[in-house]
Amino acid sequence: MPEPAIARHRWWKEASIYQIYPSSFCDSNGDGIGDIPGIISKLDYLHELGVDVIWLSPVYKSPQKDMGYDISDYQAIDPRYGSMADMDRLIAGLHARGMKLLMDLVVNHTSDQHAWFQESRSSLDNDKRKWYVWRDGFMNEKGEEGPPNNWRSVFGGMWAEFKIQAGGLTVKTQKHEGSAWQYDEVTGQYYLHCFLPGQPDLNWEHPPVREAVHSQMKFWLDKGTDGFRMDVIDLISKPRSFADAPVVLPNERWQPADKLISNGPRLNEFLEEMGREVLSKYDVMTVGEMPWMTDKREALNVVGWWRGELDMIFQFDMITMDFGNNGRYSWPEKPWTLSTLKGALEGWQTFMIQNGGWNSVCLESHDQPRSVSRFVDRSLTDNDPVTRVRVAKMLATLEAGQCGTIYVYQGQELAMKNMPTHWPIEEYKDVETQNAYKEALEQAGRDESKMQDFMKALHLKARDHARIPVQWDSSSHAGFTTGMPWMRVNEDYPQWNAALQVPDEDSVFSFWKKVLQLRKQYKNVLIYGDFEMLVREDARVVAYRRTNGQERALVLLNFTNGPVEWEIPRGRRVEELVDERYRKLGNHGKLLGEGDVLSLRPFEALMFIK
Ligand code: GLC
Ligand code: CA
Repeated sequence: MPEPAIARHRWWKEASIYQIYPSSFCDSNGDGIGDIPGIISKLDYLHELGVDVIWLSPVYKSPQKDMGYDISDYQAIDPRYGSMADMDRLIAGLHARGMKLLMDLVVNHTSDQHAWFQESRSSLDNDKRKWYVWRDGFMNEKGEEGPPNNWRSVFGGMWAEFKIQAGGLTVKTQKHEGSAWQYDEVTGQYYLHCFLPGQPDLNWEHPPVREAVHSQMKFWLDKGTDGFRMDVIDLISKPRSFADAPVVLPNERWQPADKLISNGPRLNEFLEEMGREVLSKYDVMTVGEMPWMTDKREALNVVGWWRGELDMIFQFDMITMDFGNNGRYSWPEKPWTLSTLKGALEGWQTFMIQNGGWNSVCLESHDQPRSVSRFVDRSLTDNDPVTRVRVAKMLATLEAGQCGTIYVYQGQELAMKNMPTHWPIEEYKDVETQNAYKEALEQAGRDESKMQDFMKALHLKARDHARIPVQWDSSSHAGFTTGMPWMRVNEDYPQWNAALQVPDEDSVFSFWKKVLQLRKQYKNVLIYGDFEMLVREDARVVAYRRTNGQERALVLLNFTNGPVEWEIPRGRRVEELVDERYRKLGNHGKLLGEGDVLSLRPFEALMFIK
């Protein structure tokens, strides 16, 4: 049921969204952990940047085994982040500035400390038994019992548990084999946990679970929240058969089950019901995180304007282009190419525009490394500040020109980069990283080059890179805290911080500010226009055009560290494509070129609008 995207203007299409990872944003009380009063103290900063909506990663009560993505009470704020009164002040502070708030809705699973799970595990006939996924073990031919099937937990083999506490971090390490099922002695059955054993999956087949989720949502919407980012929401409908996953890791007992558990048989039904029962009653926005959604038709079933399900999703085609069968730490290394990136970009842009869907435009999050260290050779941005500024602005331009709702992750507007490569493994606090490291150590016994491959992947892709504190100024610990930060602050903070960048017109911060303004000023073409990829086969340059009636925009990005003589594609007049008068964004000086050839300098980014 195609309808031109232009026909449907919505506030959430035009909004610029900024993600806050609360532990690492700003600490107000010196305990080393970012908190809600810290966020409130930075609202003017965010307003100045031009942000309309904040997506706040979880601040709910949680044992923090996965940094709050393991919730033990949906209606309480974890004391480390503040109180419900602080939360109310945050909402009021945002609304007073004309800004909005998205909460993180984590309802594929709860914490094992949630009262629902405590009851569920207590006996076979407890009221809440069916709220989670319980199964008997599977007996093999030898009469040995094991988990019900071969599914592997997303966080893999051995696991560590972290708990952040005032002034530091305590670590508990426990051996765990990597199955997605955990045996529970109380009743002698196994429960499903797609992530950590401390994150049991809710059983969405059971109607009271869905009602309970709806009522948590209403609680937050009635408080004034303006929508939700929905955590791994593509996993909520599990296939009923619980069949084994196909073997893609031949030497392993437990196999990734993502193809079976994502986009399950009742996903659309559950989302449509949520829309009908809850979301349609409020003027809110929704974005579903869908890590394993790769089929555009299936995605359209969720975000098509006529569906009444979600407004948009996060898909991961560009982000995971160098992941293998076993996620980000798969080896051997699988480097990405610019043509893969261009293919993913063009595919999602044109498909959603032509079919009445909507995209989110996003390069960073708390689950991904820093874009300046990721989308070009990181040694270049590590070693040369000029290149780092250029690349950050180029990547901002890559986002700026796309059709969809734009997202900025905290610190991206300051060109924050990955942790230094010389930091030891102890500086990495993420449970996924620690598990993968231990697994790599075990396997390296068999093959040493594996450890080197692993370290490369770690320096490039670990989630920790996005989780170190935001760099506010050049005082100690970058002004993030007066105490000891829970994660180490990057050493480059005296040169790279908000205090220096906000007043500087040439800074990355000012560039982002301009980007967000331009999207407002030229929304017809930049937000609602058609998309056309140019020079698909060029392995050095990303070039695309946006059009809406008479209005047009051109984005040109040199992804190489050398000059590129860029011939204007045949059939297009020079003036139509590039004209100094229409240049709205650029990260070098005056345009260089003659006739049909434009001379692009290293990592040059240009946007023309007329
Ligand atoms: C999502 C979150 C991630 C978390 C996982 C399990 O992918 O973004 O941080 O670890 O879900 O909840
Ligand atoms: Ca604090």
